[in-house]
This record gives sequence, structure tokens and C-alpha cells, in this order.
Amino acid sequence: MKRDITIQNDLIIRTLLGEATERTPVWMMRQAGRYLPEYIRLREKYSFFERCQNPELACEITLQPVDIIGVDAAILFSDILVVPQAMGMEVQLVEKLGPLLPKPVKTHADLQRIQVPDVNDTLHYVFEAIKLIKRELNGRVPLIGFAGAPWTLLCYMVQGKGSKTFDEAKGFCYQHPELAHTLLQMITDTTIAYLKGQIAAGADLVQVFDSWGGLLGKQDFENFSLKYIRQIVAAVKDEAPVIVFAKGAWSSLGEMAATGAHGLGIDWCIEPHTAREMAGANITLQGNFDPAKLLSPVAVIQKEVKNMLRAFGPGRHIANLGHGILPNVPVDHARAFVDTVKEFRFEPAIAG
Ligand code: CP3
Repeated sequence: MKRDITIQNDLIIRTLLGEATERTPVWMMRQAGRYLPEYIRLREKYSFFERCQNPELACEITLQPVDIIGVDAAILFSDILVVPQAMGMEVQLVEKLGPLLPKPVKTHADLQRIQVPDVNDTLHYVFEAIKLIKRELNGRVPLIGFAGAPWTLLCYMVQGKGSKTFDEAKGFCYQHPELAHTLLQMITDTTIAYLKGQIAAGADLVQVFDSWGGLLGKQDFENFSLKYIRQIVAAVKDEAPVIVFAKGAWSSLGEMAATGAHGLGIDWCIEPHTAREMAGANITLQGNFDPAKLLSPVAVIQKEVKNMLRAFGPGRHIANLGHGILPNVPVDHARAFVDTVKEFRFEPAIAG
């Protein structure tokens, strides 16, 4: 596995590889975003996809939480929906509504409009952003690359917009399983090339976001999601550490651990000791602070974060939220979360 030996703070990499560390590392999902006034200022000037496609802007936004909050990793500023875009779909981000794909995939004919693209052509701007970010980070912390899991991308590509249930996407899978599997395989092939490209450009580790994995029962999660995540992990795990985060899909933690991923993200609805029992000892767990709890008073955040750290125990844990940070979290509260982790130390075990 490629490893950037110039990184000064490599706590996250070491934790993922099961090596000893002096403390638990910390970052926050969606840490570059709307709770930061510095981000909001850029948002007023440039559209969302301009911010993603312009390497200088993507770099500036990626570095904001490293500089302002002091997290132990940077995560590339982009979106999981750049992949459907590269595959030939129109994707818009509509104020207050969220993502909108005006011509969703519903039929065999719709599927003909989708391709497995050459990522070096269609997603070249992401690789350029990564090279720039690595240069600007100058070894301070590792850079996390990412992609959406095929199931979560299918949800948006078929439903055409966000949803609490993704009922139309699920209906498509149950009514036209052969079309669904064709689409999932095309997304998988694109994603493998995309993540390999991110690693080649300089990403030090990658995370696969299956935000909607929890909408599927265990057997359907295996069939429509894990089967494809397994291919992705197998293809990249020898090149860089991989974290799989399938929100709500905790009943498959054992199967997810068996993919060979280095880390598993968990949300706040499963207790750390249960997750550990299911995932086994030889994998790193990441999570699982309820993002809404960052709205609590700072003293409560400090207490609850320490409780979380003790519940996971020392080693093999990356502190994080159980899902993305909310836009209405005060910056001081985000900083309290990160600082509490950075200051915490486990009592050394008493010898004899
Ligand atoms: O974590 C980071 O700091 C990196 C940036 C990042 C974004 N999106 C930026 C973004 C990451 C890792 C994502 C992943 C993503 N995008 C996921 C998976 C993680 C998750 O939260 O479940 C999903 C499901 C999406 C799809 C998406 N993109 C939605 C549903 C929305 C609208 C709702 C929302 O959260 O704003 C987006 C837009 C988006 N992606 C924004 C940002 C900062 C907000 C855009 C804005 O500035 O208005």
C-alpha cells in the first residue's frame, strides 16, 4: 500500500492500519460546509458545481475546516453526485430542495443514456483539485477521497431527487431487478476507476458513503448494495485504506467487515460495544456522535464526547459524527467536539 511518509499528523492512517496511536483521531463528515461563515461567503459568489469544478475553490473550501477547526484530516470538497453527472445525467442543486436530476432513470430506454465514462476526462477536475490540495496541505494531515456507494447513487439516479424513503428507487429495483443490476454495475465500474484516480492523484485514504443503505432489509442490502461495495473495496484496498459508511445498515456490520475494508462508519443508533461485537476486533470503527447533539451547550458536548470515547475504548477508533454536520451548528460547538477528542487521554493500564 502506498503511504505518504511526509504526513506529519498521520493518526487516522495509523488507526486504520491498526497501529498504536497516542490519542484518538477526529474529523467530521461534511466538515466543509454551511456551518462555516467562510464557506457561506464563497457560496454567495459561486454556484455549487462551480465550487466543485474549480480546483482552486475546491481546495480553499477543503482546507477551511483544517485551518478553522483543527481536524485530523481534510476531506475533498466535492459531492457524490458528480459521478451520475459524469455518467451522462443532468444534476442540479436547487436552493432549499437539494439535488434534482430532471431526467431520472425509469426504463430500459433511459438506461441507454447512461455510460461508464473515462474518468480521466469527465472527472479530471477532481484529480486536479486533489493535487492542489495535497500541495497546499503540505503534509499537515491526510486527505480523504470519497465516492457514493452504488446503491445510494442509484437512489438519486432513479428517484431524481432526495427522499426519506426512496420508494420509487426501491420500486425500480423490485420491478426491474435486471435493469437495476445493470445500472449498479455501471456505477460500480465508474466508481472503481474514480477512486483509483483519486488515490493516484494523492488521496491518502477513501471513504464510500452509503447514506441510504439503511433503507434496505438485510437480504436486499446484500443484493443491491453490499455486492457492489465488496467489488469496490476489493479493487482499492491494497492501494489505500478504505472506510465504508453505510448509514443504518448496522445489521450487516459483520458482512461489511468481511469485505476487507479498514474502517466502518457507524451512526448513533448502535452502541459502540454492539458494533464492536458484530464487526470483530480487527477493524477500525468510526463515529458515532449524533450530529444534532452538537446543538447542546458546550459543557454537555464535552461530557458526551468523553462518554463516547470511553464507550469505544482506546485504539481502532476514529471519532466522528454519526452522519454529516448540520448547517445550524455553531462553529464553537464543532470546535468543542474536535478539541474534546484531541485533549482526551485514556488512563494508562496499571501494570501488575
Ligand atoms: O464532508 C465534506 O466536508 C466534503 C463534502 C461533501 C459534500 N457532499 C458537500 C456538499 C460530501 C462528502 C458530500 C457527500 C454527499 N452528498 C452525500 C453522502 C453523505 C451524506 O451526507 O449522507 C450525499 C447523500 C450527498 C448528496 C447531497 N449533496 C445532498 C442530499 C445535498 C443537499 C442537502 C445538503 O446537505 O445540503 C448536497 C449538497 C451539498 N454537498 C452541500 C455540500 C456542502 C450543500 C450545498 C450548499 O452549499 O448549498
